[in-house]
Amino acid sequence: MIWVAALIGYLLGSISFSFIIAKRVAGIDIRQHGSGNAGATNTLRVLGKGAGILVLLLDALKGIVAVGLASLIADGNATAVALAGLAAILGHNWPVFFGFRGGKGVATTVGVIASLSFFVFIWAVVVTVIVIFLTRYVSLGSLVFFTLAPILMFIHGDPGPYVLTTLAIAALGFVRHHENIARLIKGTENKLGASK
Ligand code: G3P
Repeated sequence: MIWVAALIGYLLGSISFSFIIAKRVAGIDIRQHGSGNAGATNTLRVLGKGAGILVLLLDALKGIVAVGLASLIADGNATAVALAGLAAILGHNWPVFFGFRGGKGVATTVGVIASLSFFVFIWAVVVTVIVIFLTRYVSLGSLVFFTLAPILMFIHGDPGPYVLTTLAIAALGFVRHHENIARLIKGTENKLGASK
């Protein structure tokens, strides 16, 4: 059942909403515009607030649905639930339906964390929003979210499989943001509201 839950999570994650919406709304491949990332931030950058927020919500929703379905299929088994969440993020980053060229997994991670531990979600999101508001760097906010999620989960006493999987998700998030990290260090990262 664990692998069924993970497979469903991966397939759900592979639905690249930024690609679908950018194609529908503007007839473009979002991966050839802005930062080239198939995600909510780049959709916001290229197509504006409405499309960006829609992608953010739908990408988060697929994480929520993946975890929820896994919980039903595997009767709440913590390992299955956590792995389905991780699989949804893997699907988002390397979508089977879109040539394995996806995004960085931030919105889907937020959805997964919200489903695994609402306490962690609330506090990590609050700090992330403050960081983005103050610095205008979405990538920095994303990295803060990836850092806080496993730490808060450990402090909150969430199940071991949740903590370990969230640690893996965080590591993956940092790897996917390596170009953003290099730009942040050089001071050349895109700020929210600035066009690219
Ligand atoms: O949504 C991912 C975000 O952290 C960075 O996106 O497009 O600025 O590389 P982007």
